[in-house]
Amino acid sequence: MDFYQRFSQYYDDIFPFAPQQYSFLISLVKEKDWILDIGCGTGNYIIELCKNNDIYGVGLDLDPAMIAKAVTKGEGLANLQLLVKNMLEIDELKEKFDLAYCIGNSLPHLVEKSLIKEFIQKVFGILRDNGKLVLQTVNYDNNPKSLKTIVNKEKDIKFIRNYQYSIVDGERIVDFCTILEGRDFKLTGKVQLYPIKSYQLIEILKEVGFKEIELFGSFNREEFNPNYSSSLVILAKK
Ligand SMILES: C[S@@+](CC[C@H](N)C(=O)[O-])C[C@H]1O[C@@H](n2cnc3c(N)ncnc32)[C@H](O)[C@@H]1O
Repeated sequence: MDFYQRFSQYYDDIFPFAPQQYSFLISLVKEKDWILDIGCGTGNYIIELCKNNDIYGVGLDLDPAMIAKAVTKGEGLANLQLLVKNMLEIDELKEKFDLAYCIGNSLPHLVEKSLIKEFIQKVFGILRDNGKLVLQTVNYDNNPKSLKTIVNKEKDIKFIRNYQYSIVDGERIVDFCTILEGRDFKLTGKVQLYPIKSYQLIEILKEVGFKEIELFGSFNREEFNPNYSSSLVILAKK
């Protein structure tokens, strides 16, 4: 069974809506904008944006179970479309967007640098002039071996996350190994990720034509520190 299908039922208990993510995104939005959430998961951010603002939103995710959750949560929102779609197929979308974002470490699921470049080229193609792109990944500059365990006391669950690095076809890959433990269940999971470093992303964004590339260490706009930040947030303009 697919990694996210297994976890979709618990996803919002592990990664609930985070106001700082929303504040960052809303600061980039104008009335009537078209906004694209790429790898939207259960739709937390695109749903909230569409609920509270006069905008048009599209959320897409590869995993049907994650999109099914998002559809239930976003019911009745006429300005929202939710699609089961691979992020490498965004060039098939008919609309052009003012803001596209790919957050929550969705981007490293493309497990080759060439695929990440192909994706960023396609994002450039579907953005309007002066459109913006937000990317957020784990900070792989400092080669994390594990991520902080997430504990939800109310639901009595914990999510343990480890990284195992290896070389596959000359590319450095990481196996993201997880254990989700509840009162009466234990779910293990493993998914391959490409641990892309900040300099590689900047290089790709520049090659593709993005300008005004800003780096942050969190959605609170803290300075990015390659040694200490746990997260990398990039804002780039077309
Ligand atoms: C960790 S979740 C992040 C979800 C959401 N962005 C958030 O911040 O809560 C990563 C998501 O990326 C999706 N994903 C992985 N590969 C994808 C692809 N090639 N195209 C679209 N979505 C993908 C997964 O199905 C999963 O829902």
